[in-house]
Amino acid sequence: MAAMLENKRILLVIGGGIAAYKALDLIRRLKERGATVRCILTKAAQEFITPLATGALTGERAFTDLFDAQGEFDVGHIRLARETDLIVVAPATADLMAKMAGGHADDLASTVLLASDKQILIAPAMNPRMWEHPATRRNLAQLTADGVAVIGPNEGDMAERGERGIGRMAEPLEITAAVEELLPSAGAKPLAGRRVVVTAGPTHEPIDPVRYLANHSSGKQGHAIARAAAAAGAEVILVSGPVNLPDPAGVKTMKVTTAREMLAAVEKALPADVAIFAAAVADWRTEETKQKIKKGNGSPKLSLVENPDILATVAARKSKRPKLVVGFAAETDNVVGYAKDKRVRKNSDWILANDVSTQTGIMGGDHNKVHLITANDVESWPDQSKDEVARALVARIAAALAKA
Ligand code: PMT
Repeated sequence: MAAMLENKRILLVIGGGIAAYKALDLIRRLKERGATVRCILTKAAQEFITPLATGALTGERAFTDLFDAQGEFDVGHIRLARETDLIVVAPATADLMAKMAGGHADDLASTVLLASDKQILIAPAMNPRMWEHPATRRNLAQLTADGVAVIGPNEGDMAERGERGIGRMAEPLEITAAVEELLPSAGAKPLAGRRVVVTAGPTHEPIDPVRYLANHSSGKQGHAIARAAAAAGAEVILVSGPVNLPDPAGVKTMKVTTAREMLAAVEKALPADVAIFAAAVADWRTEETKQKIKKGNGSPKLSLVENPDILATVAARKSKRPKLVVGFAAETDNVVGYAKDKRVRKNSDWILANDVSTQTGIMGGDHNKVHLITANDVESWPDQSKDEVARALVARIAAALAKA
């Protein structure tokens, strides 16, 4: 296990919810990457897990009370707030989020959160109705505006029987990845001061109120690139189509549905130093009908209209053209040949060509094998994880910008 978090100190604030049990696995994941972990358990958290269990895993006593003479004697709540590189709140319950957004300080957890000037990452977990409630939306907007990073929640089954929706806490490994992105190894910030726009995922083009045209893109490659660019110090705007992935921590995510919305969001995100187009944008849309198309009148004819080409539009801009425009080419045959033509036709500086034939499992999967096509060269990269492709691409981009 790579010790990506060696010498990093993490303060884990555990809120009271059924997801608190996952905090134990999170401690283990952080520790195996070399981090030192201290825990604060709220009163409600202690209904689900014990200070003894967290203490045994962290190797440090767990902190629970604001007015604990022993705690104040050993460390004190101000030192708890300051002697850390990152504070992680997991699970962040609706109540904890409300306290943070309102600046409350009526127990150890909320007091430490208010007293700290360190980066905070929250992993919300709650019932989907609570997550959708306008009060939680307001609190989330306030926390994001205050610079708090957010990971999840994910969609899935709830502890309450038969309930499903958005509200499950992100998995410990997802939270760990977010921590690594917020705490990259010292010195590795080659994109500091750069602004990067990334598109990801499919677009959905409505046919009628209940049907749409789409493709199998999962958004994993684009999200991985956004995370890697943020870890390299860039300010990242991720324009994502409908995907089943948590918003990456430390990245501004703009969620869109259609190609036209994606284009509008990208244009709004400019100017940027770099734009990377990993989205599988639907090339066509249909003329949407207001009513559901009914069966029984023969096969309906869909008349397709071409969507705007987002990459080509941005690359053709006279003003605000990013210094480096990077496209992808999803091909099923003559991969490099077609991708070379695409690079020229769309005026893209670079193109990453990948073979999306079903048997490669690239679209929707966790791995990718790309060919980096520049004006003078074609370089074939090995089959690797989408995170590795993303990190290699970011390293290339940083090197190119440094030379320019
Ligand atoms: O999302 P994943 O499951 O992780 O899969 C990753 C991926 C296979 C989707 C990704 O690696 C990839 O290849 N993305 C580009 C998919 C695509 O639409 O390729 P294309 O050859 O049709 O388009 C060429 C380029 O033009 C792409 O950069 C695309 O984003 C862009 N484009 C295409 C059409 C359009 N209307 N607007 C665009 O910007």
